[in-house]
Amino acid sequence: PKAIKSKIDQLEQFREKRVRVFGWIHRLRQQKDIIFLVVRDGTGYLQVVLSGKVSQTYAALTLTLESSVELIGTLQTVPEGKTAPGGHELIVDYWQVLGTAPGADDAFSNRLNEKSDPSILADLRHLVIRGETASSVLRLRAHLLTAFRKALTSHSLIEVTPPCMVQTQVEGGATLFKFDYYGQPAFLTQSSQLYLETCLPSLGDVFCVQESFRAENSHTRRHLSEYTHLEAELAFITFEDLMNHIEAIICETVDQLLSNPASAALVQTLNPSFVAPSRPFVRMSYPGAIQWLNEHGIKRPEEDAEGNPVKGEDGQIVMVEHKLGDDIAEAAERQMTDIINKPVFLFGFPKELKAFYMKRMPPREGMDQEGMVYTESCDLLMPNVGEIVGGSMRIADQEELLAAYKHEGIDPEPYYWFTDQRKYGTCEHGGYGLGVERFLAWLANRFTVRECTLYPRWPGRATP
Ligand code: 4AD
Ligand code: MG
Repeated sequence: PKAIKSKIDQLEQFREKRVRVFGWIHRLRQQKDIIFLVVRDGTGYLQVVLSGKVSQTYAALTLTLESSVELIGTLQTVPEGKTAPGGHELIVDYWQVLGTAPGADDAFSNRLNEKSDPSILADLRHLVIRGETASSVLRLRAHLLTAFRKALTSHSLIEVTPPCMVQTQVEGGATLFKFDYYGQPAFLTQSSQLYLETCLPSLGDVFCVQESFRAENSHTRRHLSEYTHLEAELAFITFEDLMNHIEAIICETVDQLLSNPASAALVQTLNPSFVAPSRPFVRMSYPGAIQWLNEHGIKRPEEDAEGNPVKGEDGQIVMVEHKLGDDIAEAAERQMTDIINKPVFLFGFPKELKAFYMKRMPPREGMDQEGMVYTESCDLLMPNVGEIVGGSMRIADQEELLAAYKHEGIDPEPYYWFTDQRKYGTCEHGGYGLGVERFLAWLANRFTVRECTLYPRWPGRATP
């Protein structure tokens, strides 16, 4: 009978039938007159048996890992006592090699594993992604983006695609990638926020999934030079509404991933101890966080006027208590989330620590310290990763925004379109940005965000 062409994940319906499968040799075990294969086609893994005549050809005897093949045979339920992916195996009666691979002497087959030198893994990322772990992370990432889109859409947000090439900064000039744009200076976008704000009177609440770029010389587990930024903007909301919305989107996204068997299996494999966060998340004001850090003995490096760490006579960096106005650095943040071990919203950061567009916080209990001006801002911190979301209410008043540009030393001219937003029917609004790789690092328990994107970019690395 004519064989039915099928992807591996669709094979179930063709049990006991003759099927035709294409894929790559993932595992190979050769015995005298029988060859056991695991073949992979991206949708799944298939156990394959070559025995008798088909296992004695030159191609069979010289078969190597990663070769691409066409296989035709009968799909049989595995005998009792044996296991195989999908519960079936392909008994081949015709097959051919479509593309050979170098085999055992090759860098990929021989040298690559999770303990390999990170720079070799980075150079060979195009081969690393064929592996089970890397491909599972990328597959989960796809499910994650679908789940986010579904959650956001169910809250009536509309997806837009803002430009990557821009002439304004959002998160400070220091981290801009600059390039020549037909003789004019332009930048790679740091955030699509300003564009999302302009969409509110047009489309209502909006979101985007767009690459953001940061020229940060940070060689950390959670910084990329290019990352996928999920951003949303909502009109006619309060600061409370904003935090509730972020919480809802995250919990609904996680619920969806865990209720879909395909993504749930990936989470289970990559992060067996994962538990869905429960609402409401812990909320801690900025002054409350400073107090918490000091109560838990978590210190920060003392800095000189240039912001460099001060060393003591013993050559060690001097550590001091946190005080109001201090930034909460990555190390402190990480210790904090490790202790609390649950999602934590930090809110109400001082104006000086945050971007120019953030709305000032009206007087609020516990946040009335002399000389401090707080903002309606929030960062969501996750265990093992730290900050995964940054959000805020925005300055809605035109005069106040003009004053904020001035304070920050920003030329308002290129921002005319953003300012106009306040001139043509302003409204209270706010939004947030979520780092997709950081979220995935939390969800899939990855050591670094570099594992959570297809081809990671960091200082000095833009290949493959
Ligand atoms: O906190 P950030 O800088 O906030 C913004 O860009 C706002 N304009 C977003 C908004 O309100 N629409 O960045 C938001 C998130 C961070 O919480 C973090 O998860 C991620 O983006 N992020 C990075 N992820 C990987 N590598 C980097 N270098 C990142 N910088 C920020
Ligand atoms: Mg931030």
